[in-house]
Order: sequence, then structure tokens, then C-alpha cells
Amino acid sequence: PLRLDIKRKLTARSDRVKSVDLHPTEPWMLASLYNGSVCVWNHETQVNKHTQFQFDVEYLHHGDKQLKAKRIYDMLIKLWDWEKKWSCSQVFEGHTHYVMQIVINPKDNNQFASASLDRTIKVWQLGSSSPNFTLEGHEKGVNCIDYYSGGDKPYLISGADDRLVKIWDYQNKTCVQTLEGHAQNVSCVSFHPELPIIITGSEDGTVRIWHSSTYRLESTLNYGMERVWCVCGLRGSNNVALGYDEGSIIIKLGREEPAMSMDTSGKIIWAKHSEVQQANLKAMGDTEIKDGERLPLAVKDMGSCEIYPQTIQHNPNGRFVVVCGDGEYIIYTAMALRNKSFGSAQEFVWAHDSSEYAIRESNSVVKIFKNFKEKKSFKPDFGAEGIYGGFLLGVRSVNGLAFYDWENTELIRRIEIQPKHIFWSDSGELVCIATEDSFFILRYLSEKVAASQENNEGVTEDGIEDAFEVCGEIQEVVKTGLWVGDCFIYTSSVNRLNYFVGGEIVTIAHLDRTMYLLGYIPKDDRLYLGDKELNIVSYSLLVSVLEYQTAVMRRDFGMADKVLPTIPKEQRTRVAHFLEKQGFKQQALAVSSDSEHRFELALQLGELKIAYQLAVEAESEQKWKQLAELAISKCQFSLAQECLHHAQDYGGLLLLATASGNAAMVGKLAEGAERDGKNNVAFMTYFLQGK
Ligand SMILES: *[C@@H]1O[C@H](CO)[C@@H](O)[C@H](O)[C@H]1NC(C)=O
Ligand SMILES: *[C@@H]1O[C@H](CO)[C@@H](O)[C@H](O)[C@H]1NC(C)=O
Ligand SMILES: *[C@@H]1O[C@H](CO)[C@@H](O)[C@H](O)[C@H]1NC(C)=O
Ligand SMILES: *[C@@H]1O[C@H](CO)[C@@H](O)[C@H](O)[C@H]1NC(C)=O
Ligand SMILES: *[C@@H]1O[C@H](CO)[C@@H](O)[C@H](O)[C@H]1NC(C)=O
Repeated sequence: PLRLDIKRKLTARSDRVKSVDLHPTEPWMLASLYNGSVCVWNHETQVNKHTQFQFDVEYLHHGDKQLKAKRIYDMLIKLWDWEKKWSCSQVFEGHTHYVMQIVINPKDNNQFASASLDRTIKVWQLGSSSPNFTLEGHEKGVNCIDYYSGGDKPYLISGADDRLVKIWDYQNKTCVQTLEGHAQNVSCVSFHPELPIIITGSEDGTVRIWHSSTYRLESTLNYGMERVWCVCGLRGSNNVALGYDEGSIIIKLGREEPAMSMDTSGKIIWAKHSEVQQANLKAMGDTEIKDGERLPLAVKDMGSCEIYPQTIQHNPNGRFVVVCGDGEYIIYTAMALRNKSFGSAQEFVWAHDSSEYAIRESNSVVKIFKNFKEKKSFKPDFGAEGIYGGFLLGVRSVNGLAFYDWENTELIRRIEIQPKHIFWSDSGELVCIATEDSFFILRYLSEKVAASQENNEGVTEDGIEDAFEVCGEIQEVVKTGLWVGDCFIYTSSVNRLNYFVGGEIVTIAHLDRTMYLLGYIPKDDRLYLGDKELNIVSYSLLVSVLEYQTAVMRRDFGMADKVLPTIPKEQRTRVAHFLEKQGFKQQALAVSSDSEHRFELALQLGELKIAYQLAVEAESEQKWKQLAELAISKCQFSLAQECLHHAQDYGGLLLLATASGNAAMVGKLAEGAERDGKNNVAFMTYFLQGK
């Protein structure tokens, strides 16, 4: 299926609408009503306020009455020459009943077609008053027609009171297809100028959307506005206007997710309708890039695709791209878009190994290919409702998820979960399984798997028990994701760009719209994302930070120390907080460049010297108090005394002096307290000395 996403953008109530049109550049819809008014609606402001052209109403009414007197419709078609003061320059005669609609052939402006209640369609040439030919086949009056504007097919479409829609080849003059489904007279038909769809409207109140190549019914829309009278699509736009008995509606047709993919070198391939285009990040040169700003990419056309692409995906090494749609897939070379292999499939996934892939042929059969040759076809135990590529081959069924070995399709592990997406890290050690409402990070224990396979221990009907270890579950909905080292970067359902590492979530950015992760280029220290309108933006994310965090997660402090010098000073504190959360306080203290953070860490670690140094620099009473407490707990009384002095903590000094039985200290404290007006302490100290 096309998986078109249909959204209602505007509902405009009015008298009966007989014709609608969309402005080519402004967000306006024009509707002409049966009562003689013409309305313009702005569909972007969403305010259902309409401008009404009052000036013509009287005239239109007058005209309407005259037309009524002439029974509105006519059997003749007339050509009016506006250069000659609208004189009638030609009459086309031939229909034996009213003519309902004419359309000019977009590929030949001298040719037009007419639909008539005499059950025929006639095709005419300007200059010849009799029809060039007639298409017969409908059993009742024909209400509407349209030409196909794409270059590849000489097609006309018609809709009639026999409730049928017919597609005609006007070169060999045969009906190539009949679309059945409408329950009443068909009142309007349209080939969409860009999307591979046919839109039909009927007096049964529904608008139907059909695939223009397979002729499959894709959707039936019923907005409860009574009979449908007109439909209008626009080139370069996903908006379609519909006119009804009770008003007009604009719907937006499109896909939720753009078909787009980036390889590891920064070449991005996407599909704009059926056209495949390429942009190269490298070609931007040294253009300064700001976070979240649209990148000024030069776009190169690569040609059109034989199927309407729903997804595009590079293989791991970037040499090939697979395009999927309409139950078909085609593998192209990424450079020149030359087809390498193709076939039918419900789904296609690449393996971790660039030469391998799998297709889901049906709900029960999965096939694995290597070097474009079928290697194995198998029927997973509980069926196959979805497949997932990567390190292991994932198969979803009603029973949950099963991971298989690509090599021999042996079951590795069955997990009771209904995944939406699965993302494997490059090393194959970590995997994210994202579901409807959360995501899990699992560690794949390949050594245990190998051991179990060897000695057959710990193997149940659900596979190898110790194959995975759960590292965490996070209550967030992942839309798109990717791994860099052991850091999982993702976009969430609330439009956050986050990354997850070691149990911690770091927010990189709040996005203002839905964006899809394309990839990460370590050399640029940047993350790239695309949106539905095929805009590409990027966000800075330092590879050194990610590498450092990955090294820490792997307890590889040798590596971490090597990476540290490459982390800019301003990022050090963030890294230190990460270390602290992982329980590496000593390392955090060494890395942090924030004195507050360092002081906290020094206290926690009992590092008196460092804490003292920081307290001296900070000159903060609070710090001296904290340090005094630590010093006391460590029986460092002279240090405690100094700290309490700095903190002007007389109560604390009194306690320290009396508890240690230090008469000299009590004496000194008495004088100091009196001088500073701390009368309670002064009294107590004098009293204790018997003074
Ligand atoms: C025609 O219909 C429109 C919208 O329903 C209304 O605003 C307008 O007044 C009507 N015009 C006449 C002449 O009845
Ligand atoms: C129809 O039009 C074509 C192109 O102008 C012309 O060659 C052909 O003779 C016409 N056929 C008839 C029946 O008029
Ligand atoms: C007319 O052309 C269509 C393709 O456009 C083809 O499917 C059909 O078989 C042709 N019919 C005849 C009678 O040649
Ligand atoms: C369909 O068209 C016929 C004329 O062919 C007409 O009599 C009938 O009322 C129309 N149906 C509806 C629902 O208007
Ligand atoms: C693949 O390419 C060949 C030759 O260029 C062409 O004939 C064929 O139709 C193509 N097939 C697909 C499915 O793209």
C-alpha cells in the first residue's frame, strides 16, 4: 500500500460548491458556489473567514437565470475568442445529450475531450468541428473526465452515472481499466499531477483514492458533507481541495516519514515523489553551519524510480541503496542509480554485513540473500509480521520478537515484546528495542551465545537464555535512532533530540517540528536530520565526548585518558557529571573544570587538600562550614579550627574548643566573640574561664 497520510486542513461550510481551485503560490482556495457567489478561503491561517466577491453576484444571478432558461447545459461546445471580444469562433457538434465537462489535453493544447450524458466521451481537435473519435463504454451519462499529465501514458479517466470510473488509452482507444466501488453517480475524477493516485468523488458522499498504476483502492474518505461535486489537486503541493453540497474541504496527502537516507560519507539520497535526488554534505565546503538551521545543499537529480518510493535505505557500506514501495523493492547502485536487483517484498532489511539482506515475502516467509542471490528461505515459527535488520535478523510475530542468526537462521532468542524499531550498535554489543511507549537497551552476550551453541546448555524452545542482558528501560517513545559507540542518539515523540548513555539521558536540542535522524559524521562533530519537506539540519555533538563516554562505559580508562585532552574545556564538566553518575568520582574530580562541582566531589571523596584550596579560592562561608565538618569528622582539628574561623562560626568554635579542652583557644574565642558582638558566645567563654 501507498501508506499515504491524509489530514484534513480546512473545512469551509457554505452553500453547494460546484467548482474549487487552489492558488499556485498563495495559501488560497477558490470556491464557486451554486448560488452565484465566489469565495476565497485562506487555509493557512485556519480562520474560516472568507472573502466574498460581492461585485459579480448580481451579474452571476442574471447569468444563472439565463442559463437555466437554456436548461443550463447544452449539447454543443463553443470556442470563444477573447482576443476578438469574446466572439464565438467555433462550434463543436456531435454529442446527442448535454455536455457535462471538457478538458484540454495537457500534452497537446489543440486537443480536448468532452464528457456527455449521451454516455460517450469525445476527443476533438481545434479547427475541426466534428469529433476526432468517440470512446464508448459507460452505460449511463458521463459526468466528468480528466487527462493524465505524466509523460508515460496516453490516458484519460472518466466518471459516470453508472457509478463506474473508467481509464482509457486514447491512442488505441480502449478502456484499460474500470474502477468499481462508488455507490452512486460519479461526479468528479482527477489524476493527481504528482502523486501516483486517482481521486474520484461521488454523489454517495465519498471521495475515493486509487493507486494510479495498480488501480487498487487505497482509501475512502467520507466527511459527511453530502454529495461531492469537484476535486482539485495542485502540482508541487500535497493539498487537494474537495467541493461538496455543504461546503469545501482541503486535505493534505503525504507520508509521515520522508524516504531519505545518508551514507557514512555524507551523501544523502531522497525521493521527491518518484524522482530520486542526491545532495552531498561535503559540497558545502566551509560554509558556516548553525545548529538547527536549514543547510544550503545543492541538489542533483538522479532520475526517476520505477516504483513510488516509500523508503530509501543505504546498505552499511553505502555502495547500494534499496528503494521500497508498493510491495516491490529495487536495489540501486548509490552512485549512478543503476538497478542491481529487484523483486517483490512486503519489507526489506539490510544485514550488518553489507552483502546480505532479507526480505519479508509474506506474513509467513522470510528470504535471506547474499550477493544478490537467494541464500535461504524460511518460515519463522509464529509467522512474520515485521522484520528488522542489523546484527541479528529480527522477526516480529503476534508472539513477540525472535532474533535469528543470519548465517544459519537458527533461533538465538525469543523475547516477549512488540517492537516498533530495532537499532543495533556498530559493535553488535548493544541493541535498542523501541516499542509503542518505551525503549529498552540490551547487551548482546555473543560469548555466552557461542558457549551455549557449543555445549547446548541453557537452550530452551525460546532460544539461548543468556543471550541478552537488559541494561535499562526508558519511558520515552523513540521515533528515529542511531548509535555512535555506546551512545544511543534518538528523536522522541515530543520532538526532543536526545542521547542515552550509561543510564543517563542528555538532551541535545528541542526540535520545533518532527525530524528524522539521518546520521552522524564524526569528522564534522555533527548530527544530521531531515524533515518531511526534505530540509536537512544539523546539530553539533562532539565525537570526543561520545568516545570518552563510550570508553567509560566499557571501563577502558586507558582509552578515556587518551581521549580526554581532545575534549574542549567547556565540555569537561558535562563529562565529569557523567563520570560521577557512573560512580567514578575520582575521575570526575580530575576532569571537572567547575569549581563548585569539584568542591562537592572533593568533599565526597574526603580530599581535604583540594577542598581547602577551592575554599580559599571561593571565599565562601558555606564552603568553609562544609569543609570544617569534614575536617572534624577526620579529626583534623587545627584545620577545622581554621575553617570555622573563616566561616565565622562561633558556635562551632566553642564546641571545638571546649570539647578538646583547649583553654588557650577558649580565651582567644572569648575576645573574638566579644569584638564581633557575639554576646552569647562571649558570655559563655568568659564564664567558662571564670572571668
Ligand atoms: C451564497 O452562499 C454563501 C455561502 O454559503 C453565502 O455567504 C452567500 O450569501 C450566498 N449568496 C447568495 C446570493 O445567496
Ligand atoms: C484525429 O487527429 C489526428 C491528429 O490530428 C489525425 O491524424 C487523425 O486523422 C484524426 N482522426 C480523425 C478520425 O479525425
Ligand atoms: C491499448 O494499450 C494498452 C496500454 O496502454 C494495452 O494495455 C492494451 O492492451 C491496448 N489495447 C489494444 C486493443 O491494443
Ligand atoms: C444519479 O443520476 C441520475 C441520472 O442518471 C439521477 O436521476 C439521480 O438522481 C442521481 N443520483 C443522485 C443520488 O443524485
Ligand atoms: C533494471 O534495469 C534494466 C536495464 O537498465 C531495465 O530494463 C529494467 O526495467 C530495470 N528494472 C527495474 C525494476 O528497475
